[in-house]
Amino acid sequence: MKNIAIIGSQWGDEGKGKMVDYLTQKKGIDIVVRYQGGNNAGHTVVVEGKKHAFHLLPSGILYKGKTCVIGNGVVINPAILLEELKNLESQVGEKHAQLLISSKVHLIMPWHIIRDSINSGKVGSTKRGIGPTYMDYVGRQGIRLIDALDKKRFTQRIREELIWNKKLIKLMSKHADTAKELNEKKIINDYWQDLSAIRKNPLVKISDVSQFLSQSQEKGKNILFEGAQATLLDIAHGTYPFVTSSNPTIGGIYTGSGFRPRNLRVYGVVKAYTTRVGKGPFPTELKDSLGKQLRKVGNEFGTTTGRPRRCGWLDLTIIKYAKLINGFDALVLTKLDILSGINPLKIAVGYEIDGQKTDIFTTDFQKLKKVKIIYDELPGWKEDITKARKWSDLPKNAQRYIQKVEDFTNLPVELIGVGPGRKEIVSR
Ligand code: GDP
Ligand code: IMO
Ligand code: MG
Repeated sequence: MKNIAIIGSQWGDEGKGKMVDYLTQKKGIDIVVRYQGGNNAGHTVVVEGKKHAFHLLPSGILYKGKTCVIGNGVVINPAILLEELKNLESQVGEKHAQLLISSKVHLIMPWHIIRDSINSGKVGSTKRGIGPTYMDYVGRQGIRLIDALDKKRFTQRIREELIWNKKLIKLMSKHADTAKELNEKKIINDYWQDLSAIRKNPLVKISDVSQFLSQSQEKGKNILFEGAQATLLDIAHGTYPFVTSSNPTIGGIYTGSGFRPRNLRVYGVVKAYTTRVGKGPFPTELKDSLGKQLRKVGNEFGTTTGRPRRCGWLDLTIIKYAKLINGFDALVLTKLDILSGINPLKIAVGYEIDGQKTDIFTTDFQKLKKVKIIYDELPGWKEDITKARKWSDLPKNAQRYIQKVEDFTNLPVELIGVGPGRKEIVSR
């Protein structure tokens, strides 16, 4: 029995989806679990040129015979989940994994989305209602899937929540009519219809995820935990307040699935450069033509919102920090192909803050404003590396770049992404 965790080590969009899809096959994984976040995530898997973007569905969903799990730590919008299931079926028919959803997941309700869009300017949220849903979860007033299995109970909970949410939205909004968008009857009908359709799907089951995972472990099944977002977007360990409202980091697995995995190998996913969507500090950001080139060549536009991603040099102080938080056992390096043709390549290896040197990232916002970045310069390579499949196929300077990551972090880079496709990987 071997379990795996895939965790983003920067600000998201490192290519986690592709690696989940790849490792599910390669390591004989039986069960893929999402443990936090919601449809703020956008995980891309490209199979034979066909692009699949998953927001709520775990990225192992393309394998028939396996089980995908949405753990209790995830927040779900039933309409989006239904749409994703329909899209999936239109693309692959019934040739996909089963889906098990925890009855403890919290529901994203229309008032959460309105509250998020009123407030979104502060951190540049995806406006999917994620923050307000977690606020109500922690505030002990959320609506869970278990409350929505019985129509009478669900109706009652919606009525209770609507009373104060309408008042709150009126207070928050400059537009007097915003709260009027909340029509009780419509919300009850829409949600009931969508949830009923989800429950009728023969490949979907709502049940107790902790028990299922624990029994599966006893049977020797291999489980993969798929993190959404990333270490620096973690509510506790990220660049607060410019973060999401859940725990993508290692602890989120325990609370978000209600299960303690044994024999867990933790992979940190590292993009070969750095990107960030939304607001917040980003020391190695490139605001010049090179930043634009990375965005264009790397197709750095949000999978969920389509927003342009900010781009910059690889910052190894961040990876050292992410290793510390998550206890990484190994790294996977993605999008190395995007760096072909850039010469020289710079990598941040330290910061100088108020005359003090450090080689590990700080999330202290005030300090981040004054960092002087210490860069190493490495020679680039010109070759197209998208056809590389083994270490010796990579140009010497690409190998040097990878070795720099390994030396600095003291971690092995086990897989290297050289293109978006399922097979575009160098495995060592
Ligand atoms: P995630 O949120 O971490 O799953 O990442 P996204 O799917 O949001 O963004 C990663 C993007 O890069 C997607 O469009 C992937 O198809 C693509 N991608 C992943 N790995 C590679 C790679 O090694 N090379 C290239 N060129 N693209 C990649
Ligand atoms: P994946 O799983 C990149 C960012 C948003 C915003 C902040 C808070 O695809 O890597 P939220 O809607 O969560 O309240 O937004 O977090 N953000 C992401 N950035 N990738 C993601 O997910 C993200 N999910 C949220 O842009 O800055
Ligand atoms: Mg993404």
